[in-house]
Amino acid sequence: MSLNDVQTSDGTSGTTTRPTDLISYEDLYARWEQGNWRVMELDFSEDARQWREEMTEFERTAALWNYALFFWGEDAVADNLSPYIDAAPLEEQKYFLTTQQVDEARHAIFFKRFMHEVCGIGDGTMAGGLGAIRPQLTWGFRRTFERLDTIADELRADRSLPKLSAAVTLYHMVVEATLAQPGQHFITNYLEQRDMLPAFREGMEQIARDEQRHIGFGVKLLADIAADDERCRRAVADVLREVTPWGPAVLQPPGWDRNYTEAFGFTLEEIAEESIDSLQTKLRSAGLPMDELPGPPIVPVGLTNREQAERGYKLVQIGLLGEKLGPPSREPEAIELVMDTMRRQLPDTNGTSLTVQLAFSDVEPWLLRLGGGTPRAERGSEPKPDVTLGCSWEDWVDVAGGRLDPRRALLSRRLRPKARMSVLRLLPSMLGRPG
Ligand SMILES: [Fe+2]
Ligand SMILES: [Fe+2]
Repeated sequence: MSLNDVQTSDGTSGTTTRPTDLISYEDLYARWEQGNWRVMELDFSEDARQWREEMTEFERTAALWNYALFFWGEDAVADNLSPYIDAAPLEEQKYFLTTQQVDEARHAIFFKRFMHEVCGIGDGTMAGGLGAIRPQLTWGFRRTFERLDTIADELRADRSLPKLSAAVTLYHMVVEATLAQPGQHFITNYLEQRDMLPAFREGMEQIARDEQRHIGFGVKLLADIAADDERCRRAVADVLREVTPWGPAVLQPPGWDRNYTEAFGFTLEEIAEESIDSLQTKLRSAGLPMDELPGPPIVPVGLTNREQAERGYKLVQIGLLGEKLGPPSREPEAIELVMDTMRRQLPDTNGTSLTVQLAFSDVEPWLLRLGGGTPRAERGSEPKPDVTLGCSWEDWVDVAGGRLDPRRALLSRRLRPKARMSVLRLLPSMLGRPG
């Protein structure tokens, strides 16, 4: 039985039947018992030989960078699951989550063994191994996992269903379904094609099976507690809007060297597209399709997943997304891409049409036209816009990228609006940052 993305209505009682209804928490528990495996029985001696003798220096560097993210991630998810067990409303859900916590500890121990016995990383302790790989973590990865830590703290203090929905969205939908699952697919694929690292490959295949079960549970839990509850739907949307901008900066190789993934046969965009497909499919299966969640669009509307994947990496390089390393690009193509992304994520004005003149102090002016379908962005000026916003290009990009709160930017006069009071009041929500 699989969780497909079909959602049907039974048409008689008015209630919705979801594919998740066909799977019980007891089934998921039974699959855990059947799928149990032993990390301590894996023999890494042939892996260690291949690592030393058959892999090139660059392949070792690239593989280590990628596996470091997994090692850190497995430890972090093992640490952070306890408050989920406390907050889950049903005993059956608590029991499954307990099995999941055991799995995550097993996965972390698997990576620690591989890192130490095959790659010679760390001193054989968890702390030693994690300390040794810490410098490999990317900015987007650190932001995402810092948020996983804080949302666990929030869930300890507030066991409500909206908080649990947000936490499961971050843990099961974002970290497991969006980041880990496509990454595992990429790794197991090339290990199989090249017939490499046999014990590591066996462990990765077992981990992929475990993760599929964890994600299935997350989808079912969200379908059961969040899909039909407006407060939970809002909580899911809010956390997605907060974390999805970090996504393109997670798998960002050192120095943007594309060989880090291409040496193993996949481009960054192929992996990112699979990530976006995976997130959307799971949310749909949970009865929470991304484009039906409350609030402004979470991702730019009207783009294919492939286009989103390609654009995400470009926006990191331009300086809209990712770590701020200096002022954003002012190249005409970069400006156009930022404006086009922003207009695709502006909220619906409920039919009110509005022309916003962006009077940049250091680049050419742009116009945003809202109301009547997807907002439009174009170069140029208009004599009588509804709102004129004065600002620097850098401040505008910081607001658009979520680094500068629009309300603070208005108060500090970094955004200088001119308009009627009734229109001004709409501004902060209108500038809701892109995801
Ligand atoms: Fe795991
Ligand atoms: Fe997991």
